[in-house]
Amino acid sequence: KRAGVLLGGLMAPALSTADWTLNMSPGVTGTSNDIFSLHMTILWICVVIGVVVFGIMFWSIFAHRKSPDRKPANFHENTLVEILWTIIPLVILVVMAIPATATLVDMYDTTEADVDIKVTGYQWRWKYDYINDDFGYFSNISTSDDEIYNRTEKSENYLLDVDNPMVVPVGAKVRLLLTANDVIHSWWVPEFGIKKDAIPGFINEAWTRVDEPGIYRGQCTELCGVKHGFMPVVVKAVPQDEYDDWVAEQKEAAQRERELTQKDWTMEELMERGEKAYASACASCHQADGSGSPPAFPALKGSQIALEDMDAHLDVVVNGVSGTAMQAFGDQLSEVDLAAVITYERNAWGNDTGEMVTPKE
Ligand code: CUA
Repeated sequence: KRAGVLLGGLMAPALSTADWTLNMSPGVTGTSNDIFSLHMTILWICVVIGVVVFGIMFWSIFAHRKSPDRKPANFHENTLVEILWTIIPLVILVVMAIPATATLVDMYDTTEADVDIKVTGYQWRWKYDYINDDFGYFSNISTSDDEIYNRTEKSENYLLDVDNPMVVPVGAKVRLLLTANDVIHSWWVPEFGIKKDAIPGFINEAWTRVDEPGIYRGQCTELCGVKHGFMPVVVKAVPQDEYDDWVAEQKEAAQRERELTQKDWTMEELMERGEKAYASACASCHQADGSGSPPAFPALKGSQIALEDMDAHLDVVVNGVSGTAMQAFGDQLSEVDLAAVITYERNAWGNDTGEMVTPKE
């Protein structure tokens, strides 16, 4: 009894604050509904089997406990029983296999999609490339490291919020092509019924059709490094006309970004842009002041490669260094950001080399 009180006492605060449920969610897509009803069907079949088997067992134990004189039946090779206990489980398995197979076949049918989105996992953020419309962007957690590690008195969802969610049109078939840039991640939105690994050098496919407009949340579900717990997925489902407007805006923004490579940049503009790019791409390993965390993350401040050998520096940033934690940033930073970040590193922290790399170069 004391254990029960203790357990109740420990669980009470968790039960009173956490939003919890015993069952899985039926979700908001046809697939997630199919999975849910499959789950419920199989659950009830198991419940019936359990009640029958344990019922007979307990009945046998208790019905005869007051008659010690009776001898248990002793026989083997009963043809009827053997036929029954082969046929009945076989029928049950077939009854479960038919809807399960239909659901699986449907889940793997990624043909005839209306929208194709490439989803790439990075340590620790997602990139969404809208293949049909030729634009893409990163979805970062909208919270600084300081906030993550010193979390207090924050809104309910602040660790599940991102700056740029994936946007999809309601009612359209969206095909997802999942891969990763560094290690294995896994893209999961419970209410869509999708959980798919994102593996470097490999493309996994999944699809979804969201019926209800709204914001849907998930998490990376493959242990992928120190910030695995802070790699949320946010999908915003909007009506088709709103989606079309959003796509037009994104395409214009991508075009403006491309035109920036032709602009005549000044040192001040490049430094300002470089500081931002450095903060988002480099500072989490090499520190904001360039001091790094040797030996894994070398200092850039005063380093030979950051200050003297520009080609080698560019090569390292664009292609990464295999066998180390240095990722390839060629597809993570735009050409403008690459030029800006190189310029920034050469001139920040009191180096003031005055050397500028422009996007045109
Ligand atoms: Cu990415 Cu865990």
